[in-house]
Amino acid sequence: MRTERDLAPDPRDQGRRRFMIAGEHVILRAFEREDVERCYRWMNDPNIVRTLKTRYPIAFENEAEWLEGAMHPSHFERHFAIERKDDRSHIGNASIHDIDWVSRTAWFGLFIGEPSAWNRGFGGDAIRTLVRFAFDDMNLEKLRINVFDYNDRAKHVLAAQGFVEEGKLKKDFYREGTWHDIVILSVFREGRS
Ligand SMILES: CC(C)(COP(=O)(O)OP(=O)(O)OC[C@H]1O[C@@H](n2cnc3c(N)ncnc32)[C@H](O)[C@@H]1OP(=O)(O)O)[C@@H](O)C(=O)NCCC(=O)NCCS
Repeated sequence: MRTERDLAPDPRDQGRRRFMIAGEHVILRAFEREDVERCYRWMNDPNIVRTLKTRYPIAFENEAEWLEGAMHPSHFERHFAIERKDDRSHIGNASIHDIDWVSRTAWFGLFIGEPSAWNRGFGGDAIRTLVRFAFDDMNLEKLRINVFDYNDRAKHVLAAQGFVEEGKLKKDFYREGTWHDIVILSVFREGRS
């Protein structure tokens, strides 16, 4: 079976778009079943999990079920694997979910799972690419994300992409013996160039 992942660069493609959703350094592609080992590893990595609302270790079978769902999304969600453009390696995942097609709002989540890929511009580029796709191709008006107040890196990267704080849920999440605030960050299509 041929997938976007297998497409070899074709010299005749020069000057044409090679990928459906491409940023400067990453592409967003559909998930494939072969992605499951990486997803399973990332969803059990404490460095990733501490930035997400996940609490419990995830069994391989459950991750495989999640992936199967991501490959067959409802009308209200879309899921993407984040790949580096240079070596086509899968470095993270992104989701747009709880889409309200009347109000044209949605939540999203995103992580770069490979620690070796952190702080190299991939996360910022993936967010920029996802936001652009949500506005220009899905015709959404507003995207929002929940971020733990202690997640300074994510807040920094999101602010650089134009996200602004809309509100704070005080002491909304209990972890490691204490309560944490959750910040809601949003970006609107209106006013973006
Ligand atoms: C948040 C995340 C997506 C960023 O990805 P990334 O590839 O590391 O991001 P980039 O390389 O594009 O940018 C990193 C920026 O954060 C800054 N940064 C790194 N650590 C930081 C910290 N502790 N506090 C503040 N800023 C920090 C870097 O200096 C850099 O800023 P600059 O571009 O102004 O120099 C990634 O760290 C991640 O997946 N984290 C876990 C999941 C998560 O937090 N998701 C929340 C939603 S984004």
